[in-house]
Amino acid sequence: MHPISYYQDIISNHFSALSISKEPNNLYEPIRYILSLGGKRMRPVLTLMASEIFNAEYQKALAAATAVEVFHNFSLIHDDIMDDAPLRRGNETVHEKWNINTGILSGDAMLILAYQYFEQYEPKIFRELAKLFSKTALEVCEGQQYDVDFETRDDVTIPEYLKMIEYKTAVLVGAAMKMGAIVAETSEENANLIYDFGLNLGIAFQLQDDYLDAFGDPETFGKQVGGDIIENKKTYLYLKAKDFAENDKKEQLLHLFSIQPTDNTDKIKSVKEIFNTTGASQATQEAIKSYTYKAFATLDKMQIDQEKKEILKAFGENLMSRNV
Ligand code: IPE
Ligand code: IPE
Ligand code: MG
Ligand code: MG
Ligand code: MG
Repeated sequence: MHPISYYQDIISNHFSALSISKEPNNLYEPIRYILSLGGKRMRPVLTLMASEIFNAEYQKALAAATAVEVFHNFSLIHDDIMDDAPLRRGNETVHEKWNINTGILSGDAMLILAYQYFEQYEPKIFRELAKLFSKTALEVCEGQQYDVDFETRDDVTIPEYLKMIEYKTAVLVGAAMKMGAIVAETSEENANLIYDFGLNLGIAFQLQDDYLDAFGDPETFGKQVGGDIIENKKTYLYLKAKDFAENDKKEQLLHLFSIQPTDNTDKIKSVKEIFNTTGASQATQEAIKSYTYKAFATLDKMQIDQEKKEILKAFGENLMSRNV
């Protein structure tokens, strides 16, 4: 087992060297573009780390790690179309730089490309990876549909929200780690425990993504700050603010989340103020911590060296202090 930065370097070099040089250019150029924008590469790093936690060599997990990251990038292209997002990783989104049809088809091609990376595994491992991947990818679609459905609903509950983020985001983080476990051919118990670790970390991760969407620094965040407020997304921030707000404030919040002004500056400012004054921001920070610690608790059930647990905990701590 190596420090986190070791796996980050391997993934970074691996993606720099990845060649997707086929024709037609209009299909593959957007794929090269989105992959070249980088991002945190958190999921493939977790796949490599999980493989070494269960005593495989990371090289064996590289194809699965690539599949997970290519799938993630596919989901971002389609997500940006669905969220009408102009910015991704500090650059124009694919559908803005090209057009919506390009985003749809290049995204589709990435989903197939992701599957193809599993073909490098022997039949037994291939089958397990493909099975987990199909289940996860379908759940991501379900989560994404809930996310969109919630935009126009005003009765979304916290449990519904938690299920939505579990599906759209956390299952992929869990699966990324379980793939490392599958490749390492560890016990089913270990594979499921590392999945649970990733799942809870993933829930914390999406809660923080929602927090940063409102309160991130526009200079460094890389996405449109306030995008979720513009789209009337029913985030934890919003749901808690609605819970905590008194009569007038609550009505104001409900009103703000029913309108779609052409200029959103005032709407974003007012909503953020309500998030802060109601204590919703604070509650979100607490929920992030609580799901991170829940993830750490699953580590206690795992029979692996303490040193490995510490590395996974450090990964979780780093995620909590991120600002992109
Ligand atoms: C963004 O994921 C989409 C979510 C699930 C919140 P990341 O924050 O991991 O995006 P990149 O890959 O680092 O850009
Ligand atoms: C995205 O959630 C989840 C998936 C891409 C499946 P968000 O819509 O919150 O992600 P960002 O904020 O655009 O990265
Ligand atoms: Mg989005
Ligand atoms: Mg979205
Ligand atoms: Mg977001």
